[in-house]
Amino acid sequence: MHVLGLSCFYHDSAAALLRDGVLVAAAEEERFTRRKHDNGFPSRAVAYCLREAGIDIEAVDHIVFYEKPLPKFGRIIETVIGEWPRSFPVWIEGVPQWLVTKLDHRSLIQRALGTRKPVLFSSHHLSHAASAFLASPFEDAAILTTDGVGEWTTTAWGVGRGTGIEMRQEIRFPHSIGLLFSALTAYLGFRVNDAEWKVMGLAPYGRPRYVDQFRQLVDLRPDGSFRLDLRYFAYCYSSRRMFTRRWERLFGQPPRRPEAELGEFHADLAHSGQKVVEEILLAIARHLRATTGLPNLCVAGGVGLNSVANWRMLREAGFDRIFIQPAAGDSGGALGAALYV
Ligand SMILES: [Fe+2]
Repeated sequence: MHVLGLSCFYHDSAAALLRDGVLVAAAEEERFTRRKHDNGFPSRAVAYCLREAGIDIEAVDHIVFYEKPLPKFGRIIETVIGEWPRSFPVWIEGVPQWLVTKLDHRSLIQRALGTRKPVLFSSHHLSHAASAFLASPFEDAAILTTDGVGEWTTTAWGVGRGTGIEMRQEIRFPHSIGLLFSALTAYLGFRVNDAEWKVMGLAPYGRPRYVDQFRQLVDLRPDGSFRLDLRYFAYCYSSRRMFTRRWERLFGQPPRRPEAELGEFHADLAHSGQKVVEEILLAIARHLRATTGLPNLCVAGGVGLNSVANWRMLREAGFDRIFIQPAAGDSGGALGAALYV
């Protein structure tokens, strides 16, 4: 049986092909188009996967997309309405495009693949969870998925046993570790959904001088659940700004301009933001260890690429072993969706 998993139309488009549950090929579209984070339909990645398997699209038994478009569109609409009228620019930039080109993903995918085969839809965080647990060497494990946002979910945790996955708790948009880190990325003058790794790389050069300020942004509870103080964040109503003037006042400086000199202030901010993200992830991981009793942890979602946080979860949360999906970002959703079928 052949299963083709797809992730696309947001960023890091990818395809993955399984034969009888075993991965034959997987690739990101950007490797073929040379466009970083290419979000288009992954035609070249699909062609590569089919070529590796020696089959054509008609030999594929199941096609599965990594998230559910309707709930995602619902979240966008609900957020825009909730923030009206200051969310008008988001409406203008996003909603018509969704209505015209994105809403009917099934037809879009069938047309792009040149087939009438049915298309299945996984959910975003279930795809992440499957990409970690079902690719891991573990028979059972606690699972943590965390990113900017899926349909509504931004962080979820649960348990995997055998081939089953049960997600037990979730944090919903707009409360998001990934978006908190992206706001810091933007404030430091780097591109969101691209240069978060630069913030992680900058962090060890700084000192924890702004940890208290970052803690003000997050209401973290003992079970790891959290809420952001939305007065500091603009991403619900702006497609251009991640943070508000209140954020700038909190840290006492205007945002760094792209390509401007990086100083001690920026390194200290990166260090402090990283520390607080680690605190949140550690709280979740400790809760997961305590409530599941399981010694193994699987992690995916874009925040799962934070290697220092992952190391601390392994060392300090009581787990014996940890498996991080190497393609923890949305490209890995193609693999997870296929594995879950
Ligand atoms: Fe994601």
